[in-house]
Amino acid sequence: MDTSPLCFSILLVLCIFIQSSAHGQSLKPEPFGRRAQAVETNKTLHEMKTRFLLFGETNQGCQIRINHLDTLQECGFNSSLPLVMIIHGWSVDGILENWIWQMVAALKSQPAQPVNVGLVDWITLAHDHYTIAVRNTRLVGKEVAALLRWLEESVQFSRSHVHLIGYSLGAHVSGFAGSSIGGTRKIGRITGLDAAGPLFEGSSPSNRLSPDDANFVDAIHTFTREHMGLSVGIKQPIGHYDFYPNGGSFQPGCHFLELYRHIAQHGFNAITQTIKCSHERSVHLFIDSLLHAGTQSMAYLCGDMNSFSQGLCLSCKKGRCNTLGYHVRQEPRSKSKRLFLVTRDQSPFKVYHYQFKIQFINQTQTPIQTSFTMSLLGTKEKMQKIPITLGKGILSNKTYSFLITLDVDIGRLIMIKFRWENSAVWANVWNTVQTIIPWSTGPRHSGLILKTIRVKAGETQQRSPNMISLGRLNCSLLFCSELFSHDSLAHWSSAASEL
Ligand SMILES: *[C@@H]1O[C@H](CO)[C@@H](O)[C@H](O)[C@H]1NC(C)=O
Ligand SMILES: *[C@@H]1O[C@H](CO)[C@@H](O)[C@H](O)[C@H]1NC(C)=O
Ligand SMILES: *[C@@H]1O[C@H](CO)[C@@H](O)[C@H](O)[C@H]1NC(C)=O
Ligand SMILES: *[C@@H]1O[C@H](CO)[C@@H](O)[C@H](O)[C@H]1NC(C)=O
Ligand SMILES: *[C@@H]1O[C@H](CO)[C@@H](O)[C@H](O)[C@H]1NC(C)=O
Repeated sequence: MDTSPLCFSILLVLCIFIQSSAHGQSLKPEPFGRRAQAVETNKTLHEMKTRFLLFGETNQGCQIRINHLDTLQECGFNSSLPLVMIIHGWSVDGILENWIWQMVAALKSQPAQPVNVGLVDWITLAHDHYTIAVRNTRLVGKEVAALLRWLEESVQFSRSHVHLIGYSLGAHVSGFAGSSIGGTRKIGRITGLDAAGPLFEGSSPSNRLSPDDANFVDAIHTFTREHMGLSVGIKQPIGHYDFYPNGGSFQPGCHFLELYRHIAQHGFNAITQTIKCSHERSVHLFIDSLLHAGTQSMAYLCGDMNSFSQGLCLSCKKGRCNTLGYHVRQEPRSKSKRLFLVTRDQSPFKVYHYQFKIQFINQTQTPIQTSFTMSLLGTKEKMQKIPITLGKGILSNKTYSFLITLDVDIGRLIMIKFRWENSAVWANVWNTVQTIIPWSTGPRHSGLILKTIRVKAGETQQRSPNMISLGRLNCSLLFCSELFSHDSLAHWSSAASEL
């Protein structure tokens, strides 16, 4: 095949653009240059370019028209259920992106919590120069507000039962809907998924999504890495709870080096997928929270990702932690809270966070590289050889704190095994392996010795008791039986020798 894929996709974009113009409402398509001006003119409701679609039991997007009550019934709107509306962002190609349909399906896949699922389709206003699309967000926000006011007047559907989920520019559309709806009561909830940064970062709360726009506002920031002074996603907190997965600047699995894996998954779309990867990750984290109700990702209040990586922020006291995504605990606070978490590079994204605090006694004089591996044995699973590197020299009695994340839930931690790398260097030291069991005391050796180790699990908020080095695992049966019952002894010692 010598048809270039780029050529083909441009043709496709053109086709779809022409098609969507032809299928547009009675309005004639405007020349590109006049768009900006059109925004400023006084539009009456029937001139709206924004389409509101509802996804009922049987239909795949049925259009609701303001002032046409019959469309509500036709589209299967159920006024006794909440309304969740998805709002897309800026569009380069004028095509509704695939994640929208994934989000619709995820929202509808919850039999226990049925909702009306809608879409604000403003694609013709979003498919333009970025600055023009930005100006259009205010207009579309007003149109969404008009829809919600009409629902209130016509079928007494309260705005407090509305949840707007906006991605990128759509997040600010949601904000403008909330701030322009008028009256004393607010929209129930707004979720901003990597809300757009350029032209919004640093602007006043009334010019972007802010906590004032709904009873509860949550935001997920996934692509705030700066490039020439700008970041795609907004950095500053804009909600009651702001989540920064992996620090928020860039996401795992989104590097250009992963392009080949993406090509395998997405074919020729890989290039655009790779570019959008971190930005769109906010959406997929949210969808993940709907699809994996049993494994909700937990995030923790923290000053920055550096402190978080030291394991210093795994507390849940006084509302310091919250669930990322659809099932967030809705607790409006006067001050924005910045929450951090680590995620996997693909769905399911959840990890289990542990803080390790370790103290050594250093009786060696020679500098030695400070890498080791740690194997963990829990009541449910074991994890082997997790590599750890601690700064330069290890000082006696100093507490080293670090974060370890595991993809699986290992249950309650029972045993930790240390293995010093580079064992040749350690040949003169008592052993290269130290095994740690809670509640035990054991023989002491010279060299670099673990004095204490404390572990805190973020997800369960459990702390292990102070764990003290036992020395070699090869404890005599007599000694071990003081620690464990006979049955469990056989189990643990065989499990430990596997570690
Ligand atoms: C917009 O149109 C409405 C009626 O369609 C009118 O009442 C209103 O004054 C107009 N606003 C502006 C700014 O022209
Ligand atoms: C609307 O939703 C309620 C609650 O789930 C349900 O009992 C009712 O049957 C629904 N009405 C229609 C017309 O589907
Ligand atoms: C132990 O301490 C000494 C002196 O303070 C230092 O030179 C050495 O590198 C330390 N050992 C390790 C393993 O860090
Ligand atoms: C470490 O703490 C122990 C007591 O816990 C103390 O005897 C020892 O001197 C301390 N070592 C250093 C280097 O501070
Ligand atoms: C464990 O200890 C027993 C007796 O104390 C000894 O015979 C055996 O070799 C030891 N095994 C290991 C792996 O050190």
